[in-house]
Amino acid sequence: MSIRRLPSELVNRIAAGEVVERPASALKELVENALDAGSATIRIRLVAGGLELIEVADDGSGMTPDEMHLALERHATSKLPDDGLDRILSFGFRGEALPSIASVSHLTLDSRVRGADGWRIEIDHGVAVGEGPASLPPGTSIRVERLFDKVPARRKFLRSPRGEYAACLDAVKRLAMARSDVAFVLEHDGRRILSLQPTTPPQRVAELLSAELDRNGIGIDCERNGLGLTGVVSLPTFNRGMADQQFLFVNARPVKDRLLVGALRGAYRDLIARDRHPIAALFLSVPLEEVDVNVHPAKTEVRFRDPAAVRGLIVGGLRAALDEASQKSATREQAAAPVLWTTSATYDEQVNRVPTPASPVPKWVPAGSTAVLEETKALFDHAPAARAEPAVAEVPKYPLGVARGQVAATYIVAEAEDGLVIVDQHAAHERLVLERMRAAREGGAIARQPLLMPEVVDLEETDCDRIEAASDELGRLGLEVERFGPTSILVRATPAALGKTDVHGLLADLAAELAELGGAFSLQEKLDHVSATIACHGSVRAGRVLSVAEMNALLREMEVTPRSGQCNHGRPTWVKLGHAEMEKLFGRR
Ligand SMILES: Nc1ncnc2c1ncn2[C@@H]1O[C@H](COP(=O)(O)OP(=O)(O)O)[C@@H](O)[C@H]1O
Ligand SMILES: [Mg+2]
Repeated sequence: MSIRRLPSELVNRIAAGEVVERPASALKELVENALDAGSATIRIRLVAGGLELIEVADDGSGMTPDEMHLALERHATSKLPDDGLDRILSFGFRGEALPSIASVSHLTLDSRVRGADGWRIEIDHGVAVGEGPASLPPGTSIRVERLFDKVPARRKFLRSPRGEYAACLDAVKRLAMARSDVAFVLEHDGRRILSLQPTTPPQRVAELLSAELDRNGIGIDCERNGLGLTGVVSLPTFNRGMADQQFLFVNARPVKDRLLVGALRGAYRDLIARDRHPIAALFLSVPLEEVDVNVHPAKTEVRFRDPAAVRGLIVGGLRAALDEASQKSATREQAAAPVLWTTSATYDEQVNRVPTPASPVPKWVPAGSTAVLEETKALFDHAPAARAEPAVAEVPKYPLGVARGQVAATYIVAEAEDGLVIVDQHAAHERLVLERMRAAREGGAIARQPLLMPEVVDLEETDCDRIEAASDELGRLGLEVERFGPTSILVRATPAALGKTDVHGLLADLAAELAELGGAFSLQEKLDHVSATIACHGSVRAGRVLSVAEMNALLREMEVTPRSGQCNHGRPTWVKLGHAEMEKLFGRR
């Protein structure tokens, strides 16, 4: 075995593996350098998603020829004047980006300080190929071409120019949000994509996020124990299938930190389905000594001295804002409802969208066969199930109206003063049970229903372990359990709010919940989570026929229950079709 010191060119290429994963990461480093240099305007040009060209031109401090040489050396930086790593205010501090990028591309560095001439240095895959005078305005301009051309292993992992472009745009957006006081111009394949003037942070965020956040967003501004949080998040009903519109910053540094992403999820838990994601731009300010930024080569993760305080601020702050917003809209029309009902579609399109009956045309069967009876019965299952109330002239002024009937044993149809209301009975009831449990918990008293005969539930041993470990918390929710052998749990009492329930199914679901939650959650959050699972088991199913009195009771309870406008998965629990919309549907308008 012979150990050798690696040549610096190879060292740089190894570092490049961490720092420049793809064009977007090179672009990010270059824009960060431009920001650190105090630029007022940054111009970015990309060709083919940055695979052919990344150019970043700034009007910052510039560098002298000597400084340019140093800048291209590994571990050379102007950003750590006093050898400390604990008060870093600049984006950069590792002195790695330029040499790393230069080792895997053809890099041209032009720079000029005020009052002097410009200079150019050209490096090809880590080897200096020439230098000389250059003419440019004060500042720095860097061109990166043929990135990864000689690193086939890396090239294989790159996406199409489209995909790389998307990542580049994302990187620019994050930095542009971090520094709203700087002007940004972005061109891709000769097309102007962004042109951002210096402005305030909220204005910059508004320019870069979905315009609909205007109506569907909530402003955040809170503080606790010296930590501050500002920004904007979407209402739970305004969500996305991907978590790609979440912009998080710690002391104005864009991060993709697991803790922060998890806290954001935590705030929306039981307001939004698990596979849906809120939109957010959140700016966290933390005293410098409370956070370590030197934990990741690309500087996108940080470490907090007190992670629980950070999580608490985010979950608590967002939760309070979301609750307040939902209270306001509880008796108003659902945010999602107009989207479902009012469309700009033409009359013809609307008519053609009217769904055809779900049941297929019955197959031909010999007369007298029981199959016919079955199919006929199936048809009736979908007919209105409850007796309709006769329409009366005077409609009492309930926001959700008076129940008029039930459709498909799943939806309650009600008449309100200003239109027709349709309620998803399971979704709505599930929410009510959850809120009831939560209120009882806050009041300190959850009624429990002792079982006449304690029930023994058999589960996997690890599931039993989890249930046993959580037995105190479950007890607080009215679910009394006890270990009963390696693979069984004894259930002595269930929450009264639940009524008669499938105890085995409930415990199996709870074990799965607990497995997923792991250890990182506060007791409060765990209780919330477990309550949601219990609520789901205790609520009226779709398919259950309700009496008119039951339906009205459900509507009245919804009106006075916070957050009842959406189910535990973030879908609306009811929609309203206003009189005007009805008239439109029938062409009366
Ligand atoms: N656009 C720029 N304008 C002025 N100076 C720059 C610019 N880009 C890089 N530099 C100088 O080059 C040095 C090395 O840059 P880099 O390799 O990115 O490391 P770091 O940013 O961590 O210091 C920086 O510390 C800075 O002094
Ligand atoms: Mg840098």
